[in-house]
Amino acid sequence: MKRVTEPELMNNRFQAEAYASADFSETDNQIVLNLELLLKEVRTKIDGKTLFVDLGCGPGNIAERIAMKWRSAHVLGIDGSEEMLSIAENRAEKLKQKFGLHNLNYLHSNIALYSQKQKNMIPSAQVVVSNSLLHHIHDPNDFWNALKNISCKGTVHYHRDLKRPNSPEEVICIQKKYLPQAPKILIDDYIASLHAAFDIDEIKSQLHFAGLKRFKVFEVGERYLEVVGIF
Ligand SMILES: C[S@@+](CC[C@H](N)C(=O)[O-])C[C@H]1O[C@@H](n2cnc3c(N)ncnc32)[C@H](O)[C@@H]1O
Repeated sequence: MKRVTEPELMNNRFQAEAYASADFSETDNQIVLNLELLLKEVRTKIDGKTLFVDLGCGPGNIAERIAMKWRSAHVLGIDGSEEMLSIAENRAEKLKQKFGLHNLNYLHSNIALYSQKQKNMIPSAQVVVSNSLLHHIHDPNDFWNALKNISCKGTVHYHRDLKRPNSPEEVICIQKKYLPQAPKILIDDYIASLHAAFDIDEIKSQLHFAGLKRFKVFEVGERYLEVVGIF
């Protein structure tokens, strides 16, 4: 099945609200657990000098979990959608009041800028994560170049995204299995995202083209791809 792109930014208020209200906690918790195991495996020291960047952070579901888990580090969520960031910032304010969380910030920016800017104009992160972002990006080189520009030597990367199914029929099967009941706007988004996602061979060739030789891509279950690497 050929890739069909969807709009990059989730700028529509109803779309952002529906996404933020959905319960993705199982996947979100799994991502943070996988990240913790990865950081232990590669012996990354987390302290006050560590910056985690969550690209395409949406309503902040992953960024806030990271900030709560590694309280000594700094966490920066970046998204190009003002609607998403306003939800993320409201949630961060509540976490600040409830748990005294002070290490979480958000930045409104399009990752295409990180792909083009001079490297010395972009903050260097020690850990970069993204979930469900790559499939939004029309030109995947923007994503890989942004990762390179935001990295310094030894930056740890963990990226997860949907995997494109083989046929439109398979898309519907996956939607019915994993998102059987949800607001229509969310179901339509999920279907569009599955059509916009990449397959494992496409990502392998994107990594090769980007020169990211130490990055590896894996299939995770029937729905996901994970890219893990050290810059
Ligand atoms: C499906 S949501 C994922 C949100 C969150 N990462 C999560 O795990 O649920 C994708 C997010 O990526 C953002 N996004 C897409 N293209 C982007 C770009 N070029 N620059 C910045 N953010 C982008 C969208 O606005 C949206 O908030």
